[in-house]
Amino acid sequence: MTQPSPSAGPTSRPLSLITGASDDIGRELARLMAARGHDLALAARSRDRLESLADDIAATGRPRPLVLVADLADPAAIENLVAGVEAAGAHVEILVNNAGYGLIGPARTLDRRNQLGVADLNIRALTDLTLRLLPGIVAARGRILHVASIGSFLPGPYMAVYYASKAYVLSFGEALSKELESSGVTVTTLCPGPTVTGFQARAGMSAGTMSKMPSMSARAVAEAGYAGMMAGRRVVVPGWRNKLVSILAPLTPRGLLLGAVARMQESRKG
Ligand SMILES: NC(=O)c1ccc[n+]([C@@H]2O[C@H](COP(=O)([O-])OP(=O)(O)OC[C@H]3O[C@@H](n4cnc5c(N)ncnc54)[C@H](OP(=O)(O)O)[C@@H]3O)[C@@H](O)[C@H]2O)c1
Repeated sequence: MTQPSPSAGPTSRPLSLITGASDDIGRELARLMAARGHDLALAARSRDRLESLADDIAATGRPRPLVLVADLADPAAIENLVAGVEAAGAHVEILVNNAGYGLIGPARTLDRRNQLGVADLNIRALTDLTLRLLPGIVAARGRILHVASIGSFLPGPYMAVYYASKAYVLSFGEALSKELESSGVTVTTLCPGPTVTGFQARAGMSAGTMSKMPSMSARAVAEAGYAGMMAGRRVVVPGWRNKLVSILAPLTPRGLLLGAVARMQESRKG
């Protein structure tokens, strides 16, 4: 990871860009990557939380991360974000596409714009950032980490757009990992199961949802994702229960899976 990107100057600063770094899984990835010596760029909508995380990291003696405030569901914001990296005299050698959200409820009654926002962030922004930054990542022989979900392996009644978006992320990530096999770039797709974060509240799940099911901490998920990325693994499913689901789901009749997921999501509705 020493060659600069095609657009990078000889003194360009190599960065690891983490989207959705202001909270939970993304913030934990930022903390542990900074501790492992990566120089970071942090992206999300909440400036105050990004600045405070950047201050915390700088206080540990690491270089202060570049803060990029962006609503990634807005296509214009992606262009500005990439321009912001270049304007800072930097280039991206590791891309962590972590920002994402879901919505619980029937697709026919959930707000249409909000559901399209899930596709804009989880699919469009992730794809756009990856494609824009790929030439530089290839030149740097860098790495990509996509945060998908255990839902990538399942159809998701009552979270239909979310599960479909995460199936896309897994499919896209695996395909890219094959295409980039001989380039020195690794693409890892992390598929967490239930994780205690702000995700459930934004999705509209009931407050007690996480106490009803086995879940992991954002830190444990971030550690598994980081280790898998550095080992160049194609897919990482953290936690033995989630691994079991990822192995059994493709072997289970689709009708049974649909019924099981529908029942689970109905019990989570707020
Ligand atoms: N928690 C789970 O149970 C679980 C399970 C499987 C997969 N995942 C996946 O893990 C990833 C991280 O989620 P999390 O659980 O850590 O959720 P979270 O606590 O809600 O964090 C989501 C992050 O994404 C950022 N974000 C949201 N909308 C954005 C936008 N329009 N533009 C830019 N940034 C945006 C948020 O920052 P701002 O609000 O500051 O923009 C925040 O930093 C997501 O892709 C999620 O789908 C989560």
